[in-house]
Amino acid sequence: MKLAVLPGDGIGPEIVAQAVKVLDALKSDGAKIEMETAPIGGAGYDAAGDPLPAATLALARAADAVLLGAVGGPQYDALDRPLRPERGLLRIRKELNLFANLRPALLYPELAGASSLKSEVVSGLDLMIVRELTGDVYFGQPRGIEVRNGERVGFNTMLYSESEVRRVAHVAFGIAMKRGKKLCSVEKANVLECSELWKEVMIEVAKDYPEVALSHMYVDNAAMQLIRAPKQFDTIVTGNLFGDILSDAASMLSGSIGMLPSASLDERNKGMYEPIHGSAPDIAGRNLANPLATILSVAMMYRYTFADLATADRIENAVKKVIAQGLRTGDIWTEGARKVSCSEMGDAVVAALAR
Ligand code: IPM
Ligand code: MG
Repeated sequence: MKLAVLPGDGIGPEIVAQAVKVLDALKSDGAKIEMETAPIGGAGYDAAGDPLPAATLALARAADAVLLGAVGGPQYDALDRPLRPERGLLRIRKELNLFANLRPALLYPELAGASSLKSEVVSGLDLMIVRELTGDVYFGQPRGIEVRNGERVGFNTMLYSESEVRRVAHVAFGIAMKRGKKLCSVEKANVLECSELWKEVMIEVAKDYPEVALSHMYVDNAAMQLIRAPKQFDTIVTGNLFGDILSDAASMLSGSIGMLPSASLDERNKGMYEPIHGSAPDIAGRNLANPLATILSVAMMYRYTFADLATADRIENAVKKVIAQGLRTGDIWTEGARKVSCSEMGDAVVAALAR
């Protein structure tokens, strides 16, 4: 298996280094993985004047899977929009056609106290958000800022084609089938035509999955329900923008955004794997970040791209073990637990992997 490793910016390199330790440990156990590193985001701009350098894209295309850290930082905010780190991330998603973004929110029982919600609201939480990732207002044309009637206007286009909705619907129904057979499609069909079409296509696709109970919810209500009673959800499917927002909200249910991995898949389960959190410039370079979301992203890589469920379970169990041992980075630390650095957490996971 060829793996492109793209650490990116901010805490990206630190957390990816911990995931690479895990991969190295699996390699010394016989796993056949080749890793090659390349810059993306601000690091890509610094190295090659482009947040997605051609060589990085070529490496990612040739790889079976991509492991990404995070992109962005205040030093890049003043760049022209096409040169900003975030554009590199959006372009690689689009170029690799990674249209299905899987964002699980799972609460480890020991972390119930780290959630900002009452533990009875979140304990036992296990929900999957399937976010469409290559369409919507993120990519719709026209877009821009221009002068109209003597003042500047900013505009974007929310757009979904039937085929875009259909393919992500099939992924979401497939995932719901393997989970609790409940799928909630989230949109804003009471206001937006784009959502109206989304909902129609979901209902059509549902005919292929008679065992899955499909429900529909407006995004404003979904935001409220996620905070009020998140355990009502099993699998959620939604568009790019709504999924971006709801997945950040859902992350807090699990104690910390530092715990949540993600997978972004194409039609053939080639994937890019990244923590859902950002580059956290405020703590970058200080060995404070939580590497577990990145390590859990490696587990997702084994599950979805390599179809090696045993190794995926093994990595997830190692993470459970270090959590059970009471090791905590600052973001999930609560009174009485042992506070560890990013690299100590990585080492602990590697140690817990031992059979
Ligand atoms: C995410 C991030 C990105 C997004 C940004 C960094 C472009 O927030 O992956 O959720 O909006 O998709
Ligand atoms: Mg986001």
